[in-house]
Amino acid sequence: MSQYPWHTSHFSCLTRAIMSQLDQPEIGRQYRHMSWNVFVSRRIPTEGMDLLRQSGAEVRLHDEESPLPRNELLAQLRSCDGVIIGGGERVDAEFFDAAPKLKVVSCLAVGYDNVDLAEATGRRILVTNTPDVLTDAVADLTWALILGVARRVVEGDRLARSGKWRGLSPTLLRGVDVAGKTLGIIGAGRIGAAVAKRGTGFSMRLVYVARSAKPEMEALGGRRVTFDEILRESDFLCVHVPLTPDTRHLFGEAEFRKMKPTAYFINMARGAVVDEAALVRALRETWIAGAGLDVYEHEPQISPELLPMPNTLLLPHLGSATVETRRRMSIMAVENLLAVLDGRPCPNVVNPF
Ligand code: DGY
Repeated sequence: MSQYPWHTSHFSCLTRAIMSQLDQPEIGRQYRHMSWNVFVSRRIPTEGMDLLRQSGAEVRLHDEESPLPRNELLAQLRSCDGVIIGGGERVDAEFFDAAPKLKVVSCLAVGYDNVDLAEATGRRILVTNTPDVLTDAVADLTWALILGVARRVVEGDRLARSGKWRGLSPTLLRGVDVAGKTLGIIGAGRIGAAVAKRGTGFSMRLVYVARSAKPEMEALGGRRVTFDEILRESDFLCVHVPLTPDTRHLFGEAEFRKMKPTAYFINMARGAVVDEAALVRALRETWIAGAGLDVYEHEPQISPELLPMPNTLLLPHLGSATVETRRRMSIMAVENLLAVLDGRPCPNVVNPF
């Protein structure tokens, strides 16, 4: 028996939702006669797997939450027509060299900075992502970080469980108000706008940075400002830009030094948008008040200096991690993959050619 938990495809129980989709004759027709060879790099929600298996594809699944060692991942690719990338696996020239039949890389994520798009395009391999379906989940968790750092929720939880709490005290674990403060959004796309929308419920001033004025931000009372202004004005500065060569290390020492000493930095985007060593310094030397982080420069490694800091709230890249959202993402990732393999239009191709 194999050393690894590969699950070769066979028909398994379908959810009612998927059943009803597959019962539709036009969709059934689309998925008939396929014998694509597909590798799924991590465990994904059952609904996505069921849809994939029902397509008739020959499916191998790395049924774990942790990634495969690189050499074992590469060894799985030789016969693949399509791959679903469930985590941040590096998809680069070496990956493509190991997959001579590959036609599509379907990322179960909105971000695809782990994929070398130029290399994929050069080899006529389409890359897809899962936008929109995760917007609310990521915006909600951004707010969990904002409120968590502002009101010292994790410290409070620890104290409550410690047996050391001596009762209500006027000076105990005081946080800061959120209402009336300035919310800064860098990256006013779908997620940034959803975070801003939630901010109106907290009576916040809204400032944002974008290449052009964004009607949805303006409608919320948002004011477009320069990068320098947002650094200087924000009380809660939220980052929602994709990682690109232009945004790598967008935040370093110079930027943190411009922020208010009372400001909180919230990163739900990608770790490498921030020079993490500079952030550590900014927090240690109180150039800023605190940080809420879901992503890290060298995931899954987190700078060890961050771990004991009480003014940080650290999450393990959970932005879109709700049952409903991950279910939708898994179905969308499978639909993207099948559409490309089947030669049907796919709205979520990020490198159309
Ligand atoms: C994404 O979709 O890019 C998220 O970071 C994954 O949760």
